[in-house]
Amino acid sequence: MKKFFRILIGVFAGLVLIQLIPVDRDNPPVNEKDNFVTIYKTPPQMVSILRNACYDCHSNETVYPWYAYVAPVSWSIKHHVNKGREHLNFSTWGSANAYLKKSALEHSIEELQELGMPPIGYISQHPKANLTTQQRKLLEDYFRTLLDQGAY
Ligand code: HEC
Repeated sequence: MKKFFRILIGVFAGLVLIQLIPVDRDNPPVNEKDNFVTIYKTPPQMVSILRNACYDCHSNETVYPWYAYVAPVSWSIKHHVNKGREHLNFSTWGSANAYLKKSALEHSIEELQELGMPPIGYISQHPKANLTTQQRKLLEDYFRTLLDQGAY
C-alpha cells in the first residue's frame, strides 16, 4: 500500500512539473491583406463555417480551449495546430504561390467529401465544427467556385 501511494505521489509530482514546460500559444500576427476571407470577400455565412470548423488549426487566429493550458494535452494540441498551419494557413493565403493554393482548394474539397476534416476528435469538443451535410456542401461548392474561376 505504501508503495502504491509513493507511485501515486510520483505521478502527481510529474504532472505538476510538466506544467512548467512552456508551450508557445501566441498567435503569429495576421496581415489582413493575406487573409483568405479578406482576399475573396468571402460571404459571412461561409466565413462563419470556416471560422467554426477550420480556423483553429489552419489560421493564425487559433482560439485555445482551457484544456490547451494543461500538459500533456497542450503539447498534442499545439502539435496539431503547427501541423495544420504547415499544410494550410488561411491567414497567409495571399503569400502562397498559385500551385499551393490550387492544391489546398482541391484537397479541402476532398477532405470535406471524405469527412476527413475537421478531425473527429476536434468535432467532439467543438459542436459548431460538426458541419451539417448542407454546410459541407456549401463550403465544398465555394472552394470549387474559386477553383473554377482560377482565383488562385
Ligand atoms: C483540430 C485541428 C484541425 C481542424 C479544425 C481542421 N484541420 Fe485540416 N488538418 C489538420 C492537421 C493536423 C493536418 C495535417 C494532416 C494530418 O495530420 O492529418 C490537416 C490537413 C489538412 C489538409 C491537407 C490534406 C492533404 O492531403 O495534404 C487540408 C486541405 C485541410 N486540413 C483542410 C481543412 C479544412 C477545409 C478544415 C475545415 C473544414 C480543416 N482542415 C479543419 C488539422 C485540422
